[in-house]
Amino acid sequence: MVNNMLWFEKCDSTMDICHRFSSICDRELIIGSSIQIEGRGTKNRGWVSPPGNLYLSYLLYPKHRKIHTIHMIGTLSVLKFLEQKFGSHNISIKWPNDVMVDEKKICGVLQENVFKNSQLIYSVLGIGLNVNMQINSEIDVPYNSVQLITNKTEDIKNLAKDITYIFHEYYMSGISDVEIMNIWRNNIDTIGKKIKLILLDEEIISGKVKDIDLNGDLVLNLSNNKLITIKAGMVKEMKISK
Ligand code: BTN
Repeated sequence: MVNNMLWFEKCDSTMDICHRFSSICDRELIIGSSIQIEGRGTKNRGWVSPPGNLYLSYLLYPKHRKIHTIHMIGTLSVLKFLEQKFGSHNISIKWPNDVMVDEKKICGVLQENVFKNSQLIYSVLGIGLNVNMQINSEIDVPYNSVQLITNKTEDIKNLAKDITYIFHEYYMSGISDVEIMNIWRNNIDTIGKKIKLILLDEEIISGKVKDIDLNGDLVLNLSNNKLITIKAGMVKEMKISK
């Protein structure tokens, strides 16, 4: 898989490049870019994409994996890469797919799926990792970067290869989807925390996270002790309360 990597100096979004390639390419493909001018995140937000960070998308035809396992593998690959590099820091997943170092976001993962007659045709998985970045006033959440942690500059293409290698290992391994889900779940540090959610319809819900269930959904204990289940797709914004 690492050998199928194409690198762009500049593009709109590596997600869009994968979507375009899907019509002419039936092999899995990796697209990286040094800059994105229309980088996007979840919930129709933009993804600030200056030079120096990692912007990577995989075009995948996942016959042997459940759709939801793909974003878990993406998040886990970055988590494992960061653990190998900076084991002494507090590295975790903020549900559903942000990777945090010392409680600040360092990476976001985005999955876009294309269906025909409710059959998955392909999936594009995007990874945005803050690497050679110090201060960026456009980012409105507490953030981290590899450079802020190490004070060193990294080679982005090498880093893309390292993460893709780990991704490929999980993706093609004999580890079942259920086991992957459990590894992903065990690295989520949102369990036990008090949170406030703004849902897509603007409803605000507060509660304590009881668990992440077997579908990867959040089980929330409301103040009246009622348990409700929230899917990632229902959430516009999630804040951890102190
Ligand atoms: C998030 O909102 O946390 C997900 C961010 C995903 C950003 C990556 S960068 C590479 C790929 N191209 C994009 O336009 N978005 C994803």
